Amino acid sequence: MRIGGKLFRAVNWHADGVQWIEQRLLPHHFEQKMSDNPEDIAVAIETMQVRGAPTIGATAAFGLALAYKKDIKRFVSHWLPRFRATRPTAVNLFHACDAMELQAKEGASGKMMLDAAQAYADAEAAANERMGVHLAERLAVGERRILTHCNAGWLAAVDWGTATSGIYQLARAGESPFVWVDETRPRLQGARLTAWELGQEGIDHRIQADNAAAWMMAQGKVDAIVTGADRIAANGDIANKIGTYMLSLAAREHEIPFYVAAPTSTFDMQCSTGADIPVEERDADEVLMMDGVDSAGETHRIRIAASGSKANNPAFDVTPYANVTAIISEQGEWKAEA
Ligand code: MRU
Repeated sequence: MRIGGKLFRAVNWHADGVQWIEQRLLPHHFEQKMSDNPEDIAVAIETMQVRGAPTIGATAAFGLALAYKKDIKRFVSHWLPRFRATRPTAVNLFHACDAMELQAKEGASGKMMLDAAQAYADAEAAANERMGVHLAERLAVGERRILTHCNAGWLAAVDWGTATSGIYQLARAGESPFVWVDETRPRLQGARLTAWELGQEGIDHRIQADNAAAWMMAQGKVDAIVTGADRIAANGDIANKIGTYMLSLAAREHEIPFYVAAPTSTFDMQCSTGADIPVEERDADEVLMMDGVDSAGETHRIRIAASGSKANNPAFDVTPYANVTAIISEQGEWKAEA
């Protein structure tokens, strides 16, 4: 997608290493990082320099291609488990690791491993673009004021985004979608990333506190809700950013369509229900502390709770399939078997 009119992907192969957008610095600083050390790539996932389910998967695929090239002897014993341990919830990570493991077991050359990682990333981007067309068809029936949560945009999904893909498709078709952007505490992926992305694409939007969402629905100011997913169980239950479940309850109460957009790499048929999905618990400091820039552009980290206060920080929740109007993948609407 475009930044200042120039095309970028969230992660890509560049020269002899992996290049990624350092998402923790956005929206105040745009910086691409590059490394030819596979450990740096694993740390980038772990520390959320790159994040969002499909981007995590593609980054791991590139990181493993790099590990294969640099340290083939420890590929199975060290690098596969190292990448699998970076984050627990987004199943795309595990699918990418499995795909790279399979290539290695088949005796792939270093070049073949890199081609496989590139193909994985390209397939994610293409899937998101196609998914956006299906989603736009849904939204084209008059659902123009769209509420989204977290960042299910191109930063999270290599290119196009999942939830945002339909919005970008509508905009490119000359429509004028409007987006309510939930700020998405505690890490503020909505306020920091989604709003920035939408601004780069010229899409009208307002950031709102997460607490405002149900009230906007009650007032008839939301036509549809679209989120992404980090893992979809066989019965259609959805793990996504904390707060998604709460949105689905409010949407149901107000009879507002609740769409989930996710490529097939986000489906996990090994999980029968949402209860089988591991939910990541993150550091309490994400809730207790906040960072941002001052008027001179200097970054500061501040404490917002009394020192000594403890915090609870589940990073994801599970929305039951019954609360979802439709799950849209690149193949169209996906329905769980009854
Ligand atoms: O913790 P994050 O920022 O990686 O969580 C991201 C989300 O929850 C997104 O909504 C999700 O990955 C789906 S969209 C690509």
